[in-house]
Amino acid sequence: MARPKIALIGAGQIGGTLAHLAAIKELGDVVLFDIAEGTPQGKALDIAESGPSEGFDAVMKGTNDYADIAGADVCIVTAGVPRKPGMSRDDLLGINLKVMKSVGEGIKQYAPNAFVICITNPLDAMVWALREFSGLPHEKVVGMAGVLDSARFRHFLSVEFNVSMRDVTGFVLGGHGDTMVPLVRYSTVGGIPLPDLVQMGWTSQEKLDAIVQRTRDGGAEIVGLLKTGSAFYAPATSAIEMAEAYLKDQKRLLPCAAYVDGAFGLNGMYVGVPTIIGAGGVEKVVDIKLNKDEQAMFDKSVEAVKGLVEACKGIDTTLA
Ligand code: APR
Repeated sequence: MARPKIALIGAGQIGGTLAHLAAIKELGDVVLFDIAEGTPQGKALDIAESGPSEGFDAVMKGTNDYADIAGADVCIVTAGVPRKPGMSRDDLLGINLKVMKSVGEGIKQYAPNAFVICITNPLDAMVWALREFSGLPHEKVVGMAGVLDSARFRHFLSVEFNVSMRDVTGFVLGGHGDTMVPLVRYSTVGGIPLPDLVQMGWTSQEKLDAIVQRTRDGGAEIVGLLKTGSAFYAPATSAIEMAEAYLKDQKRLLPCAAYVDGAFGLNGMYVGVPTIIGAGGVEKVVDIKLNKDEQAMFDKSVEAVKGLVEACKGIDTTLA
């Protein structure tokens, strides 16, 4: 069987890391696309030259021509600009919306059967716009946020409890912004829900609250440290986890920015919810029950996302 084809639209910090991970994991042949001349070609060659030592078989190609993504099975989109210190994800809206238009049109023309994972921020609005511009089925266009936010939450929890990250589950829903909703009740250490761990005296409510806040601020913490860009290792790893779930039909239950129509009382919008990712793309949105406080936080997050989508419609009237 021919190797799957993975097109990476954007060959910056995240794009390059995605290419390296896809090669090491032998997920398929990789095409790195970027508007910057030389960057995708240079990164593709550099990664290909790591093949003999690493021992992978994957063709790496860098390009500035959308025709080279033809027939891609998976497209992962990071094209656009990242945050600088002091900027929120929402500050990127105007610039990155224009980028989504050109990327959406490129995917529509050359890779209409792909499973598309958007990473570009502000995520929930950009994945919506990318779906609109590309015209692909909703279940084939999804945003990467919840896997990353949950990974950050799980990492902080593993440090607090001094247990392996593998034994910590975490669930973060809602928009990928300050209003994201880390669901404490549905997050566990070895299957024990976090509120029970507070009761057992393994941590305090104050410490748990601080971890929740640090998770919400996880992206900004890294922007503040790096100063010249935003996080790229963990975002790339999270998107690769989603791509692998699709390519290997793993039926993973992952929190993703998916199109929600009916579940959670929503009618037709992208926001972070639990999904099943398999060969059909987003095969299911898992409509979990939220308590009053969680629902209030989720509603606030949904309103923030709706505001960004309205702003997109104001900037590009073809979206209205
Ligand atoms: N088409 C293709 N590529 C583009 C376009 C475009 N229209 N506009 C910009 N790019 C490319 C840039 O040339 C750059 O190589 O997108 C790449 C972005 O890479 P970085 O600046 O290194 O940004 P990165 O850290 O990879 O983040 C990308 O993901 O997490 C989000 O907020 C982040 O929106 C940002 C995106």
